[in-house]
Amino acid sequence: MITPELLKPADRQEARLLEQLDPRQFPQHIAIIMDGNGRWAQRRHLPRVAGHRAGVKSAREVIETCARLKIQALTLYAFSLENWRRPKAEIDFLMRLLREYLRKELPVIHKNNIRLVVIGRPEQLPAEVQRDVAQAMELTAPNSGMRLAVALNYGGRAELVDAFNAILERVRHNGGASFRVDEQTIADHLYTAGLPDPDLLIRTSGEMRLSNFLLWQIAYAEIYVTETLWPDFSRAHLLEALVDFQKRERRYGGLTVAKAAGRTAGSRG
Ligand code: IPE
Ligand code: IPE
Ligand code: MG
Repeated sequence: MITPELLKPADRQEARLLEQLDPRQFPQHIAIIMDGNGRWAQRRHLPRVAGHRAGVKSAREVIETCARLKIQALTLYAFSLENWRRPKAEIDFLMRLLREYLRKELPVIHKNNIRLVVIGRPEQLPAEVQRDVAQAMELTAPNSGMRLAVALNYGGRAELVDAFNAILERVRHNGGASFRVDEQTIADHLYTAGLPDPDLLIRTSGEMRLSNFLLWQIAYAEIYVTETLWPDFSRAHLLEALVDFQKRERRYGGLTVAKAAGRTAGSRG
């Protein structure tokens, strides 16, 4: 059971969920596809961007809850390479919202000892976004608590392409005639190098697809899809996902059943 020092339940529903959770069985790394902002707004006859704004609250709540529960790593899918296909006004709004979020929340993130990293191709983002992101990473780099990875201008295939090119570069430099690539080499050249693989992947708003997210890393992640739209995704929804995760039987291809505890990156067997 979770002790109140970790997390104080806000109501009876949260208390009931917390009672069911075993802190020794938490995922090491939770990855979330935060989807459904547009639909949330449409249902309220609001412009799509109102949904993005409302989604910020969910992000804040999830980050805080994961940090309190001492989850090692949290990855949030904020903007995909494919999202450039959206209208310019929506993209501009998302970029402004991100900057506003960093301006407001960075002190809290820093105070909570969270280390923020951006995964993706930030070099293709507007200069002012790049600058804010770089500052946030620099400020929080010494922090030793939860790792918060924000997937920004991120694509899973692009990440693999970038990894292979980085490996080729290394080989060229070291004249590596005998160099051989193994799984660890690839993991070490991904944007997520050093992070454990996600053991729990959450997608909100019901879509049963990966949308080019963490293709290599989620090889054995447990997948949890909820109909809840991202702006409605609260702390209780996250706790529900964790309760569900802890009921899963993870087999890793074998016959013996491991309870749904996290494993470290690249660990096999
Ligand atoms: C997710 O919500 C946020 C981003 C992709 C930036 P959407 O904007 O995709 O919302 P829906 O899927 O259209 O409802
Ligand atoms: C995935 O959501 C990307 C993010 C959450 C940032 P999308 O809404 O872009 O994915 P598709 O288009 O439904 O696959
Ligand atoms: Mg969507």
